[in-house]
Amino acid sequence: MFLKNAWYVGAWDTEIGRQNLLRRTLLNEPVVFYRQEDGTPVALEDKCAHRHAPLSEGKLVGDMIQCPYHGLEYNSDGDCVRVPGQSNVPPGCRVRSYPVVERNHWIWLWMGDPALADPDDIEDFHWMDDPGWRAKGELMHLKADYKLLVENLLDLSHLSYIHATTLGTSAVAETPMSVDRSDSHVTVTRWVMDSTPPPFFEKAGGFAPDEHVDRWQHITWTPPAFVRLDVGAAKAGTGAKEGDRSQGITMRNLNAITPETDKTTHYFWAQAHDFRLDEPWITDLLVANIHEAFLEDLEIIGLQQINIDSGTTQPRIDINHDGGGLQAIRTLEAMIDAENDPGAGQTAQAAE
Ligand code: FES
Ligand SMILES: [Fe+2]
Repeated sequence: MFLKNAWYVGAWDTEIGRQNLLRRTLLNEPVVFYRQEDGTPVALEDKCAHRHAPLSEGKLVGDMIQCPYHGLEYNSDGDCVRVPGQSNVPPGCRVRSYPVVERNHWIWLWMGDPALADPDDIEDFHWMDDPGWRAKGELMHLKADYKLLVENLLDLSHLSYIHATTLGTSAVAETPMSVDRSDSHVTVTRWVMDSTPPPFFEKAGGFAPDEHVDRWQHITWTPPAFVRLDVGAAKAGTGAKEGDRSQGITMRNLNAITPETDKTTHYFWAQAHDFRLDEPWITDLLVANIHEAFLEDLEIIGLQQINIDSGTTQPRIDINHDGGGLQAIRTLEAMIDAENDPGAGQTAQAAE
């Protein structure tokens, strides 16, 4: 089960247009994306009301989408407005239309009750197009439950193992983190003091070979599956922990995770930085390194899912590093339960 009353990222802005109609399964529902003639994005259920053919195989006629099979046409509200060979449209002939907002280079959609969709609730990803930052990213595909990826991002001790040659140094896993939880988010903070940086940090930050840094990881999870990381490193002992980052580099790793099915996931991510903005190679270097590392994540998480689905799987054993992930998943599951049974909490209280 998924949290339905929430904004999710459905596509990159560049993925949708008027030529190729984009079909994408989101939360187990097939959706078709396109743009109207004025550029406004549209997201409709990709299942014709007549005989359930995919509208994404059809074509646009002005702002209408025409089913490829028998030519029924739908407007952006999902209402059928034309049936070839007859003057009337049968009652109830419509497909779902999802509230859509284009923001920060992503196409956001709401798959729950449309009356509850408030664009002000969309998560803040301003780093994607803030002039004070440069950001670049991509869409990856994970063959696993999206919650495993949320846990992955909230426990960066894996950097020392899975990313030993890319992002990690052995010091990360040996450094404890602190976890804070509020109603709406979980934060995990780790400072790795006076240690060697990974090679691409060294290059991007211009640190001398073997120079030690103080490295930070501030991770914030918000539901259902957004994880924003404030990460960076500064010359050791120059006061970064006290708030002076002038001797270092700051980045944001931005992750918007959208379930495709129960066991497959769309992984939208970008890396932003606020230094050396006029040097595009820096952005490319960061993105290339994160891309390599994320491939390592996708591989191990995919194997994790295969294993979970194989043979007998015992309940999981937790360790200290699981603190953030456990808090996030617990919060998310409580929200999903409340959405599916809004009276459950009150009934439990009344029974006490
Ligand atoms: S299935 Fe779409 S028009 Fe018949
Ligand atoms: Fe990772």
